[in-house]
Amino acid sequence: MINTDTTRVTFGSRIGILLAAAGSAVGLGNIWRFPYMLGSNGGAAFLLIYIFCIIFLGLPVMIAEFYIGRHSKSNAAGAFRIIAPGTKWSVIGYIGVLAAFLILGFYFVIAGWTLEYIFQSVTETFVDKSVDDFRVALSDFSSGIFRPVLWIIIFIAINHLIVSTGVKKGIERSAKLLMPLLFVILIILCVRSLTLPGASAGLDFLFRPDFSKINSSVLLSTMGQAFFSLSVGMGCMITYSSYFKDTTNLQRTALEVTLIDAMIAIMAGVMIFPAVFSFGIEPTAGVELVFITLPNVFGKMFLSNFWSCIFFILLSVAALTSTISLHEVATAYLHEEMKITRKRATLFVSFGVLTLAILSSLSFGILKDFTLLGLTFFDLLDYITAKLMLPFGGMLICIFVGWRVDKKILKAELTNRGSVAFYFFTIYCFLIRYIAPAAIGFVFLNELGLLRFLKS
Ligand code: PHE
Repeated sequence: MINTDTTRVTFGSRIGILLAAAGSAVGLGNIWRFPYMLGSNGGAAFLLIYIFCIIFLGLPVMIAEFYIGRHSKSNAAGAFRIIAPGTKWSVIGYIGVLAAFLILGFYFVIAGWTLEYIFQSVTETFVDKSVDDFRVALSDFSSGIFRPVLWIIIFIAINHLIVSTGVKKGIERSAKLLMPLLFVILIILCVRSLTLPGASAGLDFLFRPDFSKINSSVLLSTMGQAFFSLSVGMGCMITYSSYFKDTTNLQRTALEVTLIDAMIAIMAGVMIFPAVFSFGIEPTAGVELVFITLPNVFGKMFLSNFWSCIFFILLSVAALTSTISLHEVATAYLHEEMKITRKRATLFVSFGVLTLAILSSLSFGILKDFTLLGLTFFDLLDYITAKLMLPFGGMLICIFVGWRVDKKILKAELTNRGSVAFYFFTIYCFLIRYIAPAAIGFVFLNELGLLRFLKS
């Protein structure tokens, strides 16, 4: 079955489509998580495996999501109902909508932090402070109640405004404005970092392959990172591609989004490590790298406030275009499935995620002792979504498109009814039918193993 609704809204231009999809993919996953994972998992060796994962697993899933979205012209849950009516496949879509909600529940907390750090960059000085000063400052701030929540409210309000304004005027326009801004800031910061004395030590650290660090667990978390970073496995790309035009080249768009996402992740590494090494600071892991190590680096630079300010603007812009896409998954679902207006749907989602995000934020402070499976609320949301729901969703999407969808219909959609070529269609079908679900299933089982481990 195909959705013949020609009145449905679409993005306006090819560049708008590309920037909106790339905006979803490029986020905190690229600028904060990727460089640290690369740095601590064998540099160039990790990079090679990462590139392998995005090309042979992430990209096929993205193409599959583009097929589902554009073919059905529907939200993530409705899409499966339209393509496979009367079946249980729509469960994949419901899992996706739920995942969007839960990811926002923790993502908004970090997004709020980026605003706090923009504010601090403007109002305070980072000069003459030690790593410990920054560590104490972060923990004082994040364990508080009003300040982190205030920033979350502001970030959600910005999201709310953009998403409620609609697909073309809100989402597409903001992506066209924010993505070039992100790119320009990233280039400026890369140049600044690379021209610092001793920058080459950072590049060395980043690109020197060290295969001794590669083991099965690194392999598996690399795959997880690839999915999270490409925004696949939960219906985000289904929702966005439902707004694509009938003439949009799906294969090329997926390839471009994947390349942009990988390139920005690598550039983030180029921006961070030379600077960190230039000032003789140890590249530490996780949240620390961006909120403790980097302010410390900026404090040692000439014009420190300027550099830290534009860095945190970069981070918040990256987070914004990603949160918009997550918000849209849930909003489109409520709007179309529950038949309520877009404005109302946006309002429900905004208030829903606000509740979750407040709970996550408080789990750094007064709620830090409320744990499940040994995880705080924030960590639990992160764990359930990125580690369980995305791989599971990605695997089901592969199985759906690989086994349930008629190859002729799939090929017709992916070639715009024969008007563009798809040279590797047979290889693509093989990947999506056997290789990708098997590999993703492997990641998933690994994580389930972890879950049992955590329970005992
Ligand atoms: N890809 C985004 C990032 O790298 C996160 C994201 C995941 C966005 C899933 C949408 C869907 O930060």
